[in-house]
Amino acid sequence: MSDTPTGTRPAPGTRGAAIVSWGTALPDNVVTNADFEARLDTTDAWITERTGIKERRHGGSTASLATEAGRAALDAAGLTGDDIDYLLLATTTPDYQIPSTASEVEDALGIRGGASDLNAACSGFVYALVHAHGLIAMGLQRVLIIGAETMSRVTDMEDRNTAILFGDGAGAVVVEATDDDGQLLGFDLGSDGSLRSLLDAPIGGVMQMNGKEVFRQAVTVMVRSANASLAAAGATADDLALVVPHQANIRIIDAACNRLGIGSDRLATVLHATGNTSSASIPLALVDALDAGRVAPGDLVLLVGFGAGMSWASAVVRWPDVDALRSSGATS
Ligand code: UT7
Repeated sequence: MSDTPTGTRPAPGTRGAAIVSWGTALPDNVVTNADFEARLDTTDAWITERTGIKERRHGGSTASLATEAGRAALDAAGLTGDDIDYLLLATTTPDYQIPSTASEVEDALGIRGGASDLNAACSGFVYALVHAHGLIAMGLQRVLIIGAETMSRVTDMEDRNTAILFGDGAGAVVVEATDDDGQLLGFDLGSDGSLRSLLDAPIGGVMQMNGKEVFRQAVTVMVRSANASLAAAGATADDLALVVPHQANIRIIDAACNRLGIGSDRLATVLHATGNTSSASIPLALVDALDAGRVAPGDLVLLVGFGAGMSWASAVVRWPDVDALRSSGATS
């Protein structure tokens, strides 16, 4: 793994894009720490203290959760499937080996453009966000990106090392071409395949994880990737209004944010209620912050994730004036 920062700034004059709407989906079934306490050698106190997780949701299929989140994102901007040129579904838990889960979601949402899955594990949503900007730079008008997971299907519920951590859910955003440079100021996508055995699941099997080593690597790559994106954006951590990290463990988030100089007042977290939902975790935390009115037009927002692979990804975006974009008819 190279120590050289790899952040990239979109090329000058590149056709810009911005997030214009969003939506989420969570299964109804809430699984609490007390539920695990009743059947595994664990306690609510251990899980809360070591991870920050109190409950997570289990249920549904990846396609059903993705469809619900995607439909909510379309509805929020008054769009239909016809308005979408490409559906990019970030997931590490597809419903089928063949075909892509995106094909089912595309059909359900009435999208006729391209559709594909993207697997970069928990970094998947930020990977998809950057890919969407690239597709729009090359001429597409609108890309729907969704992070959706059913992690409970690939988790050994008898393994206390992993069972307590993961949950199911989905988050979606519509990314649309803009007349200006758009929102993306800098990004960093990376992967070190030599670390892939730290966390894996064979086809048809369940996850095994070296939690301690994932933890150690996670803090390092999050900080390095965040700094690379900030440098590419010509910004510093002080300029950020909000950081939306991958929701894996509150201790990982706190350790990384301490090193970046980010306090909890500038941090989006939902993992106490969702657990680790892999590709869905960043959009779930982002939408939670948006719903709470924590992001204003012009704010700089850092999205930063890491995951199996080992992959990492970050992006600095200048939050768009979504109301102005919608009322200017950009979304029509
Ligand atoms: O999206 C990326 C996905 N993965 C991650 O982000 C995982 C990153 N790693 C972690 O979050 C943490 O390493 C864990 C939460 C998995 C584990 O926390 P830890 O503080 O690193 O604990 P540990 O592995 O050092 O284990 C400490 C003790 C061990 O017992 P002994 O050997 O000291 O007797 C474990 O067996 O805690 C034990 N332990 C548990 N005890 C109660 C492990 N899991 C549990 C549990 N309840 N659920």
